[in-house]
Amino acid sequence: MNRNRAYIRYTQAVIISVFLVILAGGIVRTTQSGMGCPDWPRCFGRWIPPVNAGQLPPDYEKYLSAQDIDHTFNAWHTWIEWINRLCTGLLGLLIIGYVCWSYKKFYRLRPAIFWLSVSMLAITGMEAWLGKLVVNSNLGIFKITGHMLLALALAAIPVRILALLDKRQKIRKRSLKWISAAAMILLLIQVILGTDVRQQIDQVSKSLDYTHRELWISRLNVVFDIHRSFSWIVALACGFLYWKVSQLKGSGILKRPATAGLVLVVLLMALGMVMAFCNVPAWVQPLHLLCSSMLVMVLFSFRLRLS
Ligand code: HEM
Repeated sequence: MNRNRAYIRYTQAVIISVFLVILAGGIVRTTQSGMGCPDWPRCFGRWIPPVNAGQLPPDYEKYLSAQDIDHTFNAWHTWIEWINRLCTGLLGLLIIGYVCWSYKKFYRLRPAIFWLSVSMLAITGMEAWLGKLVVNSNLGIFKITGHMLLALALAAIPVRILALLDKRQKIRKRSLKWISAAAMILLLIQVILGTDVRQQIDQVSKSLDYTHRELWISRLNVVFDIHRSFSWIVALACGFLYWKVSQLKGSGILKRPATAGLVLVVLLMALGMVMAFCNVPAWVQPLHLLCSSMLVMVLFSFRLRLS
């Protein structure tokens, strides 16, 4: 494999790892494992968490009493949370390797690529700091939204680097630039609305002791209705982009992201409806989150293919 190709493959692996970390975070939440490790960066004061209550440190109550959570030890929750942290750690290592490689390969020739990779390191540091805040403050809404937006920024950087390395001719089309920018803004609004709905689900589910899923949707406020209806506007924007691209001759490099955008938005709406009409199945929640993150990246990549 030539070295440029290998670097591109590594960049793609970084993007996939970011999505895996997003998915792992979603699974942590739907299994209510978020506080499985009540302290950070260690777990019950240990680097490898306990597998049963007998292995807990004598003063383990001090970790639990700092949080508003159940005081019974649950090994399942602890390990899910710990694996999630492990995935995040591995992504961190991948990013360090990325920065070193980018330095070696591009620092002199194309410094922008090197500095973009460095900014991933900075965002990862901010995520870790925010992660600590989330643990310490019992998951506040602003921190959850901030966490989500930083995760999207993290995935956006390697997407941007791929675009910089893409030698294919970009498409010059003013109207598509405007429509894709508008679609991105609408989508980001929808993501922020979604994180509010998610916060409400967190509160409702907790108040019902994570049971009676059939009641969760009925207890959401008007933001849920807005989120549901707004998805039609996002879908229209994605559909319009797809239609414009299909009308345009020589728009080969736009076809893939335009199609992926349309497929993802339809999938997202279907998953949303499954949550709304089938009592919020736990497996759908992380998928809804993953697909929305992917849609943001797909639209971003679309935009980067326009000159
Ligand atoms: C363009 C389409 C959509 C996008 C981009 C989108 C995006 C999002 C995002 C980013 C979240 C936050 C997820 C999290 O932080 O875990 C969310 C949550 C949610 N969305 Fe959507 N959504 C869309 C359509 C819909 C539709 C059509 C419905 C319902 C009919 C819906 C129902 C929900 C529900 C119930 C939640 C809370 C999920 C949870 O607690 O895990 N969404 N959405």
